[in-house]
Amino acid sequence: MSDGILLETRGLVLAYGGFRAVDGVDLKVREGTIHSVIGPNGAGKTSLFHCLTGGRKPTEGAILFNGADITRDSAHARIDIGMARSFQVTSLFQNLSVRENLRLAAQGRDGDGALVFWRSVFDGKAHLAQADAVMERLALTAKAKIAAGDLSHGQQRVLEVGMALCGRPRMLLLDEPTSGMGIDDIPIMTNLISELGKDHTVMLIEHNMGIVMSISDTITVMSRGQILVEGKPDVVRADERVRTAYLGGAA
Ligand SMILES: Nc1ncnc2c1ncn2[C@@H]1O[C@H](COP(=O)(O)OP(=O)(O)O)[C@@H](O)[C@H]1O
Ligand SMILES: [Mg+2]
Repeated sequence: MSDGILLETRGLVLAYGGFRAVDGVDLKVREGTIHSVIGPNGAGKTSLFHCLTGGRKPTEGAILFNGADITRDSAHARIDIGMARSFQVTSLFQNLSVRENLRLAAQGRDGDGALVFWRSVFDGKAHLAQADAVMERLALTAKAKIAAGDLSHGQQRVLEVGMALCGRPRMLLLDEPTSGMGIDDIPIMTNLISELGKDHTVMLIEHNMGIVMSISDTITVMSRGQILVEGKPDVVRADERVRTAYLGGAA
């Protein structure tokens, strides 16, 4: 698109009964940026994430990806057009190796075509090459043969991001990728996201403001279902309203 906006929401609302968890959000994510959405607990970040990934249908408003209206598209259709979300730990195959998990994720992208024999032989090599390239990026090559279930919790979360990457997405959506991670593992994930931002559009939903400050191009702060402040990290950091929202339980 000529204006460089890859993902956009217009007047997005998600209501649970009479309660608007997302209450009129207009968001524009520029291609090639790391765009973080932060806010106190209960601000509506995960609800927004579900609308974007197709897990929930918005009550009002529209979602556009690369200029096309995807508001009513299924979660699967969104993955097919290049919107990848990181999987949950529970979706890793605990007994399979790191490499095998990634290979299956690369294969999963291809759907029915992979059933054709001559194609599957060719694709098998391509999938493995893709898995190995992703593994290298995750700094997990030394753990290639380790069962996913034997990785540390932090490494499992890194592997989840890798599973999403295997589909060569145009955009990566991450909801609190560091949640439950130990303090020592957080920099590994933060560095990985920063790296991915060099050749992907990344939308990062995060509660912890410290994590997003150093890696984001743009930060949108949500509070009570609405956008409170948006701008570069320095602008957001200096804004008194953001501090108040985090301190005052204004979510
Ligand atoms: N399934 C649901 N049914 C009713 N209320 C919900 C549901 N999910 C979330 N909420 C409420 O919506 C608000 C926003 O939640 P959420 O999107 O999870 O916020 P965040 O991710 O920013 O912490 C909260 O007040 C939460 O209690
Ligand atoms: Mg949340």
